[in-house]
Amino acid sequence: MSSTARTIPSLASVASRQQAEPSDPVAPTKIEAESLDFFYGTTRALEGITLRIRTNVVTAFIGPSGCGKSTFLRTMNRMNDIIPGTRVTGGLRIDGHDIYAPGVDVVALRRRIGMVFQKSNPFPKSIFENIAYGLHVNGMAGSKADVAARVEESLRQAALWDEVKDRLQTSALALSGGQQQRLCIARALAIRPEVLLMDEPASALDPIATQRIEELIYDLKKTYTIVIVTHSMQQAARVSDYTAFFWLGRLVEYDRTDQIFTAPTEKLTEDYVTGRFG
Ligand SMILES: Nc1ncnc2c1ncn2[C@@H]1O[C@H](COP(=O)(O)OP(=O)(O)O)[C@@H](O)[C@H]1O
Ligand SMILES: [Mg+2]
Repeated sequence: MSSTARTIPSLASVASRQQAEPSDPVAPTKIEAESLDFFYGTTRALEGITLRIRTNVVTAFIGPSGCGKSTFLRTMNRMNDIIPGTRVTGGLRIDGHDIYAPGVDVVALRRRIGMVFQKSNPFPKSIFENIAYGLHVNGMAGSKADVAARVEESLRQAALWDEVKDRLQTSALALSGGQQQRLCIARALAIRPEVLLMDEPASALDPIATQRIEELIYDLKKTYTIVIVTHSMQQAARVSDYTAFFWLGRLVEYDRTDQIFTAPTEKLTEDYVTGRFG
């Protein structure tokens, strides 16, 4: 930190110009953070985050490792709640409702705000069961035929159906890494979330599997609001409509992706997207 800090603008100058709104907001707001701070014990990992995430677009979070991207993503479905000693202040609204208000049903919230992780984590069960399980635990199972139909629909949405339709009863663990990640996406989609949070979903995959995931993200945004954390700027440029650049727990700049990559407002953003640090 000390070596880069000397060559880049101070955080104070960045914070005063922080943008909560992309320059040409089109879609309605889905998620809105307002002066959000996040603490692990006494350590502040996010500071004064204010931004609006738009409906049915892909928003990418970029920034160097440790700058709070995953932490912020996890505040959106209260996944941080399970980490002892954490604390959130400020506002976080989804569809206008404060998700940290007393009495919020966190299980229902996580059903609406699905999540896919960097490391695919299929259950040691059949491909079919991996998806059917979530339907059962969420009380969405219905008849056997309903479950089968939902499994097929989810696998089709995740662009995996054609590859697995003849082996649904075989172990999910026998799938390739890229297939396992698409299975995890199918599993998340099966319970029909409104938002899909993806934390570096392709960073453990080879280029071909990565391309499949990126194509999938592009298709899914017709139906879902997607937020993706990526350390690949090429990936952010390819898949996202809006990009938010984080640095040391602050939101430095948030704008249309083409704007961020071709004509950012902040020197710090420019230095990062041109590979001068990070
Ligand atoms: N479970 C945790 N407990 C304590 N500190 C954490 C935890 N997870 C992340 N942090 C800290 O919070 C900061 C932001 O981390 P993170 O959100 O994982 O960043 P990113 O996803 O941008 O790499 C880092 O300083 C990290 O060390
Ligand atoms: Mg992370």
